[in-house]
Amino acid sequence: MGVNQPLESEFLLASADHRLVDEVLAVAAAVAVEPVVVSDASQAATRWSAAGTVLVGEDLAADVTALSLPAGPTVHLVGSDPARLSAWSMPLRASVIELPAGAAWLTGILAGGEGAGLCPVVSVVGASGGVGASTLAAGLAYRATRSGTSTVLVDADPLGGGIDLLLGAERVGGWRWDRFARAEGQMGDLRPVLPSVDGLSLLSMGRRSSAQLAREPVSAVIGSLRRTYDLVVIDPGRSQLPGSLECGRLATASVLVVACSVRAVAAAQQALGGWAGVPPHVVARRRRGTGVGPGDLADRLRTPVAGVLPEDPDLVAAAERGDPPGRSLRRRRGWGRACAELLGVLV
Ligand SMILES: Nc1ncnc2c1ncn2[C@@H]1O[C@H](COP(=O)(O)OP(=O)(O)O)[C@@H](O)[C@H]1O
Ligand SMILES: [Mg+2]
Repeated sequence: MGVNQPLESEFLLASADHRLVDEVLAVAAAVAVEPVVVSDASQAATRWSAAGTVLVGEDLAADVTALSLPAGPTVHLVGSDPARLSAWSMPLRASVIELPAGAAWLTGILAGGEGAGLCPVVSVVGASGGVGASTLAAGLAYRATRSGTSTVLVDADPLGGGIDLLLGAERVGGWRWDRFARAEGQMGDLRPVLPSVDGLSLLSMGRRSSAQLAREPVSAVIGSLRRTYDLVVIDPGRSQLPGSLECGRLATASVLVVACSVRAVAAAQQALGGWAGVPPHVVARRRRGTGVGPGDLADRLRTPVAGVLPEDPDLVAAAERGDPPGRSLRRRRGWGRACAELLGVLV
């Protein structure tokens, strides 16, 4: 089925795993799409540049990676083995669709664009406090904006002090979450009312201690942002409050930042144990003087590490100045580079 489709078909599925092919084709059939199916990497190569979107089955991830095919199509890695999916996501520069959990997202992609006109939502969570999750969320969002992706950074951490502060935007006029407390249903374009820094839009908690997010406004606001931006990056914080949990549910990809220390690994084990939905990409945050490295972390968590964030004192100084993370760092080195590479994996 689908093998004899014309070359111009927008979707290419590369897999020799019949079960996986059937699973993807069933989702595709529901939205009346027929991907071209190829069963080895060399056939994928011949049809690669004609495809708008390529779904690479986890069984062919290594073979397709080995061919170093040119950038162009949007690549998603599909399969059901979380460890294998995260291991090949970075080399293939592909986002991961784990089936069956990710079937809804796959439906959206096949129905036309990311989630039928809805952009991806990346959520960044720290396995323990103070590991740099908010800094990374801001860095990813800032970096994406710099490379031309229309991005909004959403702070949903009621105890984080307001992410606008981290970006030096606490005095920039515009709406914070308190203005959306009663939001529901379908909303219009929020871009004109949100504060922005160097083109990056911000939806911040602000500093009212009573502020709490309910599920309904979070879902209405993020739904609207997904229709108007190309990328939504969320910093949900570590609370189990309804609004923060809703952010986790809406994420199409998540990052779990784990510090390289014994206690942080224990906390990450707990976080991964209770994780709902598609498993996160684990990112290791180096810590001086702990003797735990990213390799140990991967071993102990039995999951690949999707990126390593070095310790960078300049980030602390930049945050104190309200200089967005990544604005004054060298892009090709250290934390800035790790951030850029991670962005390539996530979107
Ligand atoms: N890679 C890093 N190296 C050194 N300091 C960092 C790094 N990332 C974040 N920080 C600093 O650590 C502190 C906590 O960062 P933050 O992003 O608020 O963590 P979290 O959101 O996980 O609680 C801040 O002072 C921040 O500037
Ligand atoms: Mg934080």
